Amino acid sequence: MKKVKVIILGSTGTIGRNTLSIIRHHRKMFKVLALSAYRNARLLKQQIEEFRPEYAVLGNRKAGEKFPPAPKKVRILEGEKGINKIASLASDITVVGISGLAALKPLVNSLLHAKRVLLANKEVIVACGHLLRSKFTSLFNKIFPLDSELFSLGVILRNIKREELECVYITASGGPLWGKKQQEMDKVSLQDTLRHPNWKMGKKISVDSATLMNKGFEIIETQNIFGLSLDKIKVLVHRQSFMHALVKMKSGIILGTMFQPDMRIPIGYGLGVFSFQEPFFRIKNFPSQLNFVSPDHKRFPSLPLCLWAAKKGKSLPLVLVSADEAAVELYLQKKIKLTAIYSLVRETLKLHRPREVRLWEDVYRIDEWAKKTVLELAERRFS
Ligand SMILES: NC(=O)c1ccc[n+]([C@@H]2O[C@H](COP(=O)([O-])OP(=O)(O)OC[C@H]3O[C@@H](n4cnc5c(N)ncnc54)[C@H](OP(=O)(O)O)[C@@H]3O)[C@@H](O)[C@H]2O)c1
Repeated sequence: MKKVKVIILGSTGTIGRNTLSIIRHHRKMFKVLALSAYRNARLLKQQIEEFRPEYAVLGNRKAGEKFPPAPKKVRILEGEKGINKIASLASDITVVGISGLAALKPLVNSLLHAKRVLLANKEVIVACGHLLRSKFTSLFNKIFPLDSELFSLGVILRNIKREELECVYITASGGPLWGKKQQEMDKVSLQDTLRHPNWKMGKKISVDSATLMNKGFEIIETQNIFGLSLDKIKVLVHRQSFMHALVKMKSGIILGTMFQPDMRIPIGYGLGVFSFQEPFFRIKNFPSQLNFVSPDHKRFPSLPLCLWAAKKGKSLPLVLVSADEAAVELYLQKKIKLTAIYSLVRETLKLHRPREVRLWEDVYRIDEWAKKTVLELAERRFS
């Protein structure tokens, strides 16, 4: 059997590690062609020893300074250039598990050179979905979204006619701070913010889940990946995280996708592993109740803010993503409070004069401006 050649961009992150955990159990099926990390040289070294890729990259040059000699036949590369080099190798499947806008160029290269792209990163699709679609219309169908909500919508939408669809619902767990009063939000520790009740995820997406910014991003991601208008995309809070998305048909029928909250299920499907032998495919506890409530926009203002930016369009979704990235970083460094993320992003959006994003240079220029603006605003307000 010919092995499926896989590249994992962001192999040391949650998505990357979950992908490798599936490959570990299906060694005969896969050949790991290349891996990339950013700073985590120690884990990358372990992964190199275990999976013996042809290429491995440490994106952050400084982290690479003490990188020990790799086994023979493994080529070690460095920096952004190295990541783009491996993203440009011909693969059967490339997994894009890099967080933030740093995934833009690697995603573009993956679309050009991979047969299928398992895309976990949502920031790039939110920020530059229109630009990507206009430049790579025919390549867009290579994208297999891994985000549980989008994966779940994909499972249903592949099997129904568009004209039958009334609207879609993506679910939100409500995050670790659900139930907290507004005045309590800033009293929770960073640890509590990062402790998601149902998912184990990287720090950035965990903070975005606590502010519900993540759900706002997923509305725009759904719009850009499936080409749905915003009025057809709704959010329901569903604490159990067992139902991930629902599709309401004009006939009145509602179809839903349920599975236990484990990213290995979407990743497994994307890799082509659909075996009921896998322990994570088996349902451990079927919830005795499935509850759905509408999100409270007053308590979680990030959601209407994202909808506003999506409706206005142009460069606003890009500013939204860049400003959030900078503000979350400040929060992770304990320089600002949790609720300041929203106010910094909102303020930055207000200061921005929306314009069309036509070129990659526009993306980098606006990204730089938004991040700089957040830092300046934070400096003035909170130092
Ligand atoms: N985790 C989930 O369950 C989940 C679900 C849905 C969507 N997503 C999306 O998937 C993406 C990854 O999430 P995650 O939770 O796996 O994040 P994570 O655990 O923080 O992992 C991020 C990965 O990207 C690498 N990386 C970080 N900054 C980089 C840069 N500037 N250039 C190149 N590589 C960089 C990291 O390397 P180091 O480890 O060496 O720093 C790591 O391998 C995010 O966009 C997130 O929104 C995640």
